[in-house]
Amino acid sequence: MIELAGVSLKYPDGTLALKGIDLEIGSGELIFITGPSGSGKTSLLKLLMGMEYPTSGALRVLGQPIVKGQESRIRRLRKRIGPVFQEFRLIQGRTVLENVMMGMRFLGLPNRQIKQSAQSALVRLGLEHKTKSRVGNLSWGEAQRVAIARAVARRPRLILADEPTGNLDHDNALIILDLLTSFRDTNTTVIITTHATHLIEHQQDAAFIRMNDGNVTVERRRKAHEECLV
Ligand SMILES: Nc1ncnc2c1ncn2[C@@H]1O[C@H](COP(=O)(O)OP(=O)(O)OP(=O)(O)O)[C@@H](O)[C@H]1O
Ligand SMILES: [Mg+2]
Repeated sequence: MIELAGVSLKYPDGTLALKGIDLEIGSGELIFITGPSGSGKTSLLKLLMGMEYPTSGALRVLGQPIVKGQESRIRRLRKRIGPVFQEFRLIQGRTVLENVMMGMRFLGLPNRQIKQSAQSALVRLGLEHKTKSRVGNLSWGEAQRVAIARAVARRPRLILADEPTGNLDHDNALIILDLLTSFRDTNTTVIITTHATHLIEHQQDAAFIRMNDGNVTVERRRKAHEECLV
């Protein structure tokens, strides 16, 4: 699903944000990325979304190589990715339903189908009573859930969420993490960056990528009952 071989990312100002990363992520994996501020978490997600390109090494996402000069392929790839950005990127003056539908416009599906998918994503995220509200009037936690609904409504193969628990209290952060992880299935990989390590330490059957100054270490934890079967 995702393969990085010696991937580095150097920004134009010379900052080396990722340093020769080797990593393989399979379909249906749940991945938590942690690490101090500036360690490269967002940079790694940007690479996976095709928003930045490796300056050395090789990267494939959903079988597609991420290289400069392949923009139309990368646009196609993005249709299969559901991004949840740190700053949400919602359109304040539009309603909740419109925002979620807008996330699917570029898929070229019939309007009725887009509306149905958007509505069922909003129900799953507990926002059915807010579909007609303007996004600018929502609480932070609600806006975060709209951003997630927009990402998942199109049933992506890969969900990438950058710091989705930022600015949320403990209970709401847990709700958001549970919702996001609930979208993982054999076909959908969920990757979440978070500073809230205390909220994820109990997670089983997940991989933990710890970033430090552009380097990664990976720990995979399997479900307790699977270990008993081995
Ligand atoms: N567009 C850019 N141009 C130059 N340097 C950048 C750019 N974006 C990020 N950086 C630098 O790359 C490094 C990694 O940044 P990144 O945003 O990936 O960190 P992060 O782990 O997501 O941090 P945070 O937890 O604060 O979100 C930092 O030194 C940052 O200043
Ligand atoms: Mg970041």
